[in-house]
Amino acid sequence: MRYLGNKTRLLGFIRRVLRARGITGGRAIDPFSGTASVASALKRWGFAVTAGDIMEYGYILARARVALSQPPDLQPLAARLGLRGAALPAVLHHLNRLPPSPGFIHEHYSPGGEEGARAGRMYFTPASAARIDAIRGALHEWRAGGLLDADGHDLLLAALIEAADRVANTTGVYAACVKSWQPNALRPLALRAPGLLAGNGCEARRGDALQLVSDTPPFKLLYLDPPYNSRQYAGYYHIPELLALGWFDGPVALRGKTGLIADAHKRSAWSSRRRCEQALEALVASARCRHIVMSYNAEGLIPEATIERVLRTYGRDGTYRRYRRGYRRYRSDADSDTRRYRGDRVDEYLYCVDRS
Ligand SMILES: C[S@@+](CC[C@H](N)C(=O)[O-])C[C@H]1O[C@@H](n2cnc3c(N)ncnc32)[C@H](O)[C@@H]1O
Repeated sequence: MRYLGNKTRLLGFIRRVLRARGITGGRAIDPFSGTASVASALKRWGFAVTAGDIMEYGYILARARVALSQPPDLQPLAARLGLRGAALPAVLHHLNRLPPSPGFIHEHYSPGGEEGARAGRMYFTPASAARIDAIRGALHEWRAGGLLDADGHDLLLAALIEAADRVANTTGVYAACVKSWQPNALRPLALRAPGLLAGNGCEARRGDALQLVSDTPPFKLLYLDPPYNSRQYAGYYHIPELLALGWFDGPVALRGKTGLIADAHKRSAWSSRRRCEQALEALVASARCRHIVMSYNAEGLIPEATIERVLRTYGRDGTYRRYRRGYRRYRSDADSDTRRYRGDRVDEYLYCVDRS
């Protein structure tokens, strides 16, 4: 999924640093898991992973990509729908062929709806929006009617969130939509079978990182990838959040040009210049773990000197190190918030320390 701070590109670097520091297994906590790209890689590398995020879509993605280790039982649903063959592909095929059913997303986030047209919201073509509505509605009904258990529901919902993102008419964040249709927005919405990873003892959690880390008994690795600038994910990814939460429990108040939802309780201290340094210190102080590895942008709100001071204060003497991966900038690389460019160089950092 296109996501601010997505670390998919950095997995090789993260793995090399973990190996170099002899961190090979045990419980790993990723309390800012986002798309779960690092959390699922940690699972693949043999860790028992706890992935958490303050956003509901982060929780759903972590449920599908980290917590689930075997296919959910979709047989009762497939039987009720009269589907033949392996249940997961058959259910995905069924969802991909549902007739469009214009509803909430069509009304508010596509120009096919009155509100969407009035506000100039071109997040999805009317056709994609009506198909998203049909699929989201089916998942809700199946779950409410007991045809889907939580595993099946969350797996299919994660597939919908990712599929919707592939056809969203944005440049990667939902803080604005593009004012003409981009090629990706004109492609048909298609749910794909999520790849499930075998693993033991992996789980997904929702909520604040500090709560998750301080509630966890001693563990091996704390991997931190917090927001590093003042952009609040709650405002930049409100549409994936709506897809995750649904709109079935009563009217949803939308505000502003982009149709934001209420998010005061999801505004992050890590995106506040005034609160981020204290958030880092509180989190590191509360973690009962052997190793801390932190991704942070060199131009982030927390100064490098503060990160170093905090990690040295709570870490074991002689174990602090900052790893840098530099590489030549490719012509296709645009400036981005996740990378620091110096001329034609790009630097990525991992700050590491061991605790006793
Ligand atoms: C840089 S992104 C993580 C990206 C992730 N590693 C990936 O590869 O997709 C930061 C994440 O922190 C989450 N977040 C922000 N504040 C949080 C908090 N206080 N507790 C938990 N998660 C938080 C955001 O929702 C976002 O998903």
